[in-house]
Amino acid sequence: MTATQPQRVYVPGDSGALSVGADQVARSLQIEAQRCGLPIELVRNGSRGLYWLEPLVEVETPAGRMAYGPVRAQDVPDLFAAGFLSGEPHRLGHGLTALMPYLAGQERLTFARVGLTDPLSLDDYQAHGGFAGLKRAIGLEPAAIVQEVTDSGLRGRGGAAFPTGIKWATVRDAPLTPKYVVCNADEGDSGTFSDRMLMEGDPYCLIEGTTIAALAVGATQGYIYSRSEYPHAFRIMETAIARARAAGFLGPDLLGSGRSFELELRMGAGAYICGEETAMLESLEGRPGLVRFKPPLPAIAGLFGRPTVINNAMSLASVPIILAQGAAFYRDYGVGRSHGTLPFQLAGNIRHGGLVEKAFGLTLNEMLYDYGGGSASGRPIRAVQVGGPLGAYVPESQFDIPLDYEAYAKIGAMIGHGGIVVFDDTVDMARMARYAMEFCAHESCGKCTPCRIGSRRGVEVIDRIIAGQARAANLALLESLCDTMLNGSLCALGGMAPYPVQSALRHFPEDFAPS
Ligand SMILES: Cc1cc2nc3c(=O)[nH]c(=O)nc-3n(C[C@H](O)[C@H](O)[C@H](O)COP(=O)(O)O)c2cc1C
Ligand code: SF4
Repeated sequence: MTATQPQRVYVPGDSGALSVGADQVARSLQIEAQRCGLPIELVRNGSRGLYWLEPLVEVETPAGRMAYGPVRAQDVPDLFAAGFLSGEPHRLGHGLTALMPYLAGQERLTFARVGLTDPLSLDDYQAHGGFAGLKRAIGLEPAAIVQEVTDSGLRGRGGAAFPTGIKWATVRDAPLTPKYVVCNADEGDSGTFSDRMLMEGDPYCLIEGTTIAALAVGATQGYIYSRSEYPHAFRIMETAIARARAAGFLGPDLLGSGRSFELELRMGAGAYICGEETAMLESLEGRPGLVRFKPPLPAIAGLFGRPTVINNAMSLASVPIILAQGAAFYRDYGVGRSHGTLPFQLAGNIRHGGLVEKAFGLTLNEMLYDYGGGSASGRPIRAVQVGGPLGAYVPESQFDIPLDYEAYAKIGAMIGHGGIVVFDDTVDMARMARYAMEFCAHESCGKCTPCRIGSRRGVEVIDRIIAGQARAANLALLESLCDTMLNGSLCALGGMAPYPVQSALRHFPEDFAPS
């Protein structure tokens, strides 16, 4: 590389990196490059998902991309002085990005391109395997696309882990038209960010997966539903959709096939319940997010009463590689009936928080210590909430259970959207149980009594237990209330709020004893 050729430097434009100063770093890099007479080509990539190292700046060298982080604007002159543009060592240097243990140990299928490419470049996307799945799907019969997804073993990544192929077959076979595809990118779970990261880092992947779903079921219109907390993801998706349409990857004549699929974005106001599929349909139709009775299933009568596929963003983003590489390739990852990979999200009290995509079957111990590096506070990890605010608290004695859907169901826990929130030994689990009930009361849509009233009474009962009032009677009352909510709620908000409460009671009874 001669001094006059611009050196390619990557600075993430992901909102996680922006929140810790990526824009300022990008500006400093440009100013310093000019001052030194060393031209650079700045690429705003997605995040590699090593959030504790953001902003993670990468430089393209003949040996590969070299990583430096976390870089602050004031570090930039020093980096230039050390010769970082040639990949020279520096106290913030980590060597070749691809060899960093956090990344090298991952199995990135869905996130294969995130952090690697310029998110909005169609050329970059295609140069890294993008649209290969769509190109194959366009030449297949709908039934063959559905079969491929069924054979891959893909299960919904939004929470319930329902087989995606079976859902698609139901919509494909439903007689009414038009049909719709709704991508659920509401992502309300605590500590989760994979949908956002993908939308910001590889938006065409989501567009491609949603379009393949539409081809599989015969849908002509699709919606991506996200939340107002994700304005940056929204802007990137908006631009990506416009560019994909202009290039014929969306619109009235998909890849010259004569088939049509339009895709639009919708933004919710951030109510947790709007992530529930029927409440989301209400919201998309312009009404408040109240849960609908089932049946009919949305697959039969969903948006505007028409057959509708509703899938989580991660489910849809897993589809392009399944079509491109074949069902068997994807199915071979994982254990038991948990096939493929899941982008786990490590958050809370953890040293190395970020995104770790791995095949199902690794354990929390591996996740927390091999990737996470233990707690951020340096204290012992006492509890981990897996699967969002309605997920159970997993105690240390269960950290070696493999992360697979069935193994987790057996211990009364769930993997859900892959959110892992870590707590050290200073956590008060009675307070956490109270918080779960309070969350349910706050986010309840109010349609059914067990959830609307039960969650409020639940908070009061836990308060009485914490205060040491009639402990035995109130513990029995709490159990009975949880039972009513579990069995009598209309949707999983009320139906699962007891999970964190009961797991806290079961595994950490000492926290419920009066002090
Ligand atoms: C209270 C509540 C909130 C939910 N939030 C989300 C969400 O943010 N994203 C999501 O994909 N699914 C969410 N779900 C699950 C959806 O109802 C639905 O099962 C899912 O979008 C289906 O997609 P999948 O089969 O690809 O997982 C939620 C469910 C409940 C009960
Ligand atoms: S369980 Fe709660 S959120 Fe779900 S329908 Fe009933 S009141 Fe609404």
